[in-house]
Amino acid sequence: MSAAEYVPTGADIATLREAASRCRGCELWEPATQVVFGAGNPRAPLMLVGEQPGDVEDQRGLPFVGPAGQLLQRALAEAAIATEDVYVTNAVKHFRFTLKGKRRIHATPLVSHIKACGPWLDAELSEVDPELVVLLGATAAKALLGNDFRITRDRGRLIEADVAGATRRLLATAHPSAVLRATDGPDRAKAYAELVTDLRTAASLAAG
Ligand code: URA
Ligand code: SF4
Repeated sequence: MSAAEYVPTGADIATLREAASRCRGCELWEPATQVVFGAGNPRAPLMLVGEQPGDVEDQRGLPFVGPAGQLLQRALAEAAIATEDVYVTNAVKHFRFTLKGKRRIHATPLVSHIKACGPWLDAELSEVDPELVVLLGATAAKALLGNDFRITRDRGRLIEADVAGATRRLLATAHPSAVLRATDGPDRAKAYAELVTDLRTAASLAAG
């Protein structure tokens, strides 16, 4: 399973996005409504990488527009990061879910899906070539840094690694969905504050 044969080489983001709508690099395209490619400024200093589109993203064709996305937008604003300074995408470009009656329940993508979809993420990294990559949660971290990476241990600090053909600067933090899953009250407030702190660090690393 690989998206490689569907990814045009040296293409700009608009061309990549268009090509991704025809990707059959793994089986996830079939039950999904549509591909959800990255969005935002293709010259942004910050590139944010999530896991995969959710139910709302699958229907609208845009990343981070559902509940987790709204929390992320709020956290970005609080960290004084402007929308035009960000390009957002996901490690996996189609929504993976299981059916529970008529409801579509998020299912974490497998390593095989992350690997199959990797050529799209690599192409986005090469093309956007951001000052800093922000990894939102374990799936994004796995996609670019491998299986041994632990968010809880290594979040919030600068990491340098060879990814997508260059030495890149990255920073990992929690996924906004993990903040939403934290129990309402002090736990969630703390998880949210930690996300904002990491985004502030990311902003200063991208600027400096
Ligand atoms: N969660 C993600 O990881 N990505 C999205 O686009 C939406 C929710
Ligand atoms: Fe292609 Fe990625 Fe969709 Fe799989 S999830 S079909 S590799 S775009």
